[in-house]
Amino acid sequence: MAVALIVAAGRGERLGASGPKAFVVLAGRPLLAWSLEALKAVPAIERIVIAMPPGHPLPPEAGAPEGTVLVPGGATRSHSVRTALAAAGPGHPVIVHDAARPLAPPELFERALAALEHADAAVAAAPVTDTIKEADAHGTVRHTLDRKSLWAIQTPQAFRREALVAALAQPDDILAAATDDAWLVERAGGTVRVVESAPENLKVTTPLDLRVAELLLAERC
Ligand code: CTP
Ligand code: MG
Repeated sequence: MAVALIVAAGRGERLGASGPKAFVVLAGRPLLAWSLEALKAVPAIERIVIAMPPGHPLPPEAGAPEGTVLVPGGATRSHSVRTALAAAGPGHPVIVHDAARPLAPPELFERALAALEHADAAVAAAPVTDTIKEADAHGTVRHTLDRKSLWAIQTPQAFRREALVAALAQPDDILAAATDDAWLVERAGGTVRVVESAPENLKVTTPLDLRVAELLLAERC
């Protein structure tokens, strides 16, 4: 049976709320509650671990299921993942999900888990719709990338447990440089697959994201 790690320990500096981003109320519920609700609907998940903002108790309105394990998060996202995994107890595979993505549907978690049959990691991703160019420090375009092969990476990300453990056993500076855990698996030579997801599975980063997510969630209710 799988374990799910929700990383919720960030400060939400770009959102600029008065408290931790994971507890900001969105369509009537704390941001974190939406990810918990999706995970509760995935039968393969036997336990949830939440990396919490240090010094902040979990609001009961988050609706964490019984048996949820809480750990204080680390200095960077990957440190929070590592701390959560260490507290997870037995279970395989491992799902990592950002509390900041309240719109991930249960079926996306299921598809990420299923894609592990042929990979060490499987990551939710949306096809890139903008044209992406690479420019130098002066703003001069060097080249235009082929959009057909580009993906905007999201969470959930599912991992074979031993691949994630090995990927996270890295020095602090490497962990700090990782914006996702799949990159750490790639560095270690592991196979990572993309699982197509919708752009609606956005990450609440700025006040604009919060407004868009709120509209999309209100539509669902
Ligand atoms: N996260 C975490 N521990 C950290 C940093 C981030 O658990 N030390 C989590 C966040 O809570 C979030 C996810 O990682 O669910 C993605 O991070 P991001 O969107 O950058 O959130 P914040 O770090 O909170 O936001 P900001 O960078 O604007 O401060
Ligand atoms: Mg951050």
